[in-house]
Amino acid sequence: MPALTTASRTLARSWTAHQLPAVRASCSAIQTQTRSVSEVSTTSSFDSPFKGMGSSQGTTKIPSFAKYRNKSGESSTKVFQYFMVGTMGAITAMGAKATVQDFLVNMSASADVLAQAKVEIDLSAIPEGKNVIIKWRGKPVFIRHRTESEIQEAEDTKWEALRDPQSDQDRVQKPDWLIMLGVCTHLGCVPIGEAGDFGGWFCPCHGSHYDISGRIRKGPAPLNLEVPPYEFPEEGKVVIG
Ligand code: FES
Repeated sequence: MPALTTASRTLARSWTAHQLPAVRASCSAIQTQTRSVSEVSTTSSFDSPFKGMGSSQGTTKIPSFAKYRNKSGESSTKVFQYFMVGTMGAITAMGAKATVQDFLVNMSASADVLAQAKVEIDLSAIPEGKNVIIKWRGKPVFIRHRTESEIQEAEDTKWEALRDPQSDQDRVQKPDWLIMLGVCTHLGCVPIGEAGDFGGWFCPCHGSHYDISGRIRKGPAPLNLEVPPYEFPEEGKVVIG
């Protein structure tokens, strides 16, 4: 191992001894070249256009834009800007309003749908003790012209203990006219009139019995038959809806 170290040192010394003159020669060549470049630059015949200009004059000439300036001053420009901004804002607001309005008109109910929203019925055509079924907004509506005995029975019922407790007075505006939707509150079948255990309506789908006031008395239906909005605008007429 020591013999190997000695041999490597000897080899490094002999390489340095051979290479050193060449390195020195290249350094002196670089110095010579640098000197010759500086000599050339000082003795160059190139004449710079900025040579000899004072610091007050500078090397950049900025053109004058004075002739493009607004002669009437800054305030008139601002008035014009405000006018343009205001006008554009007004036009944008009008466009937005028109768009929203068109959308709402498009989404609202059409004339034929509005015509079905209310239905007027002549009650004089319905004799006492009879049912009539009319169509309102795609649903059947029962109108019953009740007799005196039916009214008495509906009012005498102990409604507090019923499944959906409701008095007969809360379900009618005039005792002789019972008006309600003909849709079973169980699963939506149309009950049959003058049927069932309570003399009112019977739903054959699953066996719900409603009384003469349309209240659920027996079967799976959870609620009384629904009473729609209606009014009597004059004697012998009813408007549903
Ligand atoms: S839908 Fe009437 S009882 Fe079921």
